[in-house]
Amino acid sequence: MTQAELFDIKGHVAIVTGAASGLGLAFSEVMAANGARVVMLDLNEAELARHAARLAAEGSVVEPIKLDVADTEALRAAIDGAASRHGRIDCLFANAGISGGPGTLTSDAGAIDHFDIDLFRRAMDINLTATLMAMRFVVPHMKARRYGSIIATASIAGIRAEPICGYGYIASKAAVINVVRQAAVELAPWNIRANAIAPGPFLTNIGGGRLHREPEVVKLFADMVPLSRLAQTDEIKGLALLLASPAGSYLTGTVIPIDGGATAVMTRGHYADRHA
Ligand SMILES: NC(=O)c1ccc[n+]([C@@H]2O[C@H](COP(=O)([O-])OP(=O)(O)OC[C@H]3O[C@@H](n4cnc5c(N)ncnc54)[C@H](O)[C@@H]3O)[C@@H](O)[C@H]2O)c1
Repeated sequence: MTQAELFDIKGHVAIVTGAASGLGLAFSEVMAANGARVVMLDLNEAELARHAARLAAEGSVVEPIKLDVADTEALRAAIDGAASRHGRIDCLFANAGISGGPGTLTSDAGAIDHFDIDLFRRAMDINLTATLMAMRFVVPHMKARRYGSIIATASIAGIRAEPICGYGYIASKAAVINVVRQAAVELAPWNIRANAIAPGPFLTNIGGGRLHREPEVVKLFADMVPLSRLAQTDEIKGLALLLASPAGSYLTGTVIPIDGGATAVMTRGHYADRHA
């Protein structure tokens, strides 16, 4: 592989779910900036249109499609339609996700004896089931060309306990990680790779934009990170490009934390103080 080929994704077709904000927008931007055609899927029609228009004005080839990823038939139609229009799907960022209610640290409503089962089920539907279904729908198109890279957005809250997050979130993210591992093993004979990204705290609109409004929540997150800050969404772009490009050709079945060091430390003291 030459130096020029390492990160070369020109002409690739990428599907990104949750593409209108936060990490999904960053994935869309980095793929588009490197010459991929990007099919941007999101529930938020206005933001999707705004960002797709901006990227198109910059010379990128993007295609916005409004849908709810929990609508399985709409998801299937969007992915099959993209494959037939573009003739290929090289990459999937299965990224759309929701916080799914409060955690156990900041609210009694998130506690194991109180949490809302409807919020739990919605988190499982969007964060887990829709991720798995998006994978299911891209796979036939990837198998046909014996090539593909699937990247699921998990979370460090799927690797270890994370009291700031609720049960629906931690359960769905832990499950995403093992789904990715199983798919990586199953799909390796077709040269289809599957990996999970496990972000720490990034400054996005998750949880209805709390991270932009509530300094005490930002502080809670920043305190668990050795780098002592939340990440900007641009900081996920390098890892995304690595996993999507030939540079990541031997990476599969992995879960890669991108967390400012959060999973490297023990934080029990921090949580114990808050419960004292
Ligand atoms: N921000 C963080 O700190 C963080 C940390 C770890 C993991 N994550 C994960 O990153 C992913 C992206 O979240 P984000 O932080 O960028 O949040 P965000 O809210 O900024 O972006 C999420 C996008 O997904 C879209 N979306 C939500 N539900 C949808 C649905 N049912 N159908 C279609 N689109 C839908 C939203 O409209 C939004 O544009 C999620 O899976 C989240 O769990 C985020």
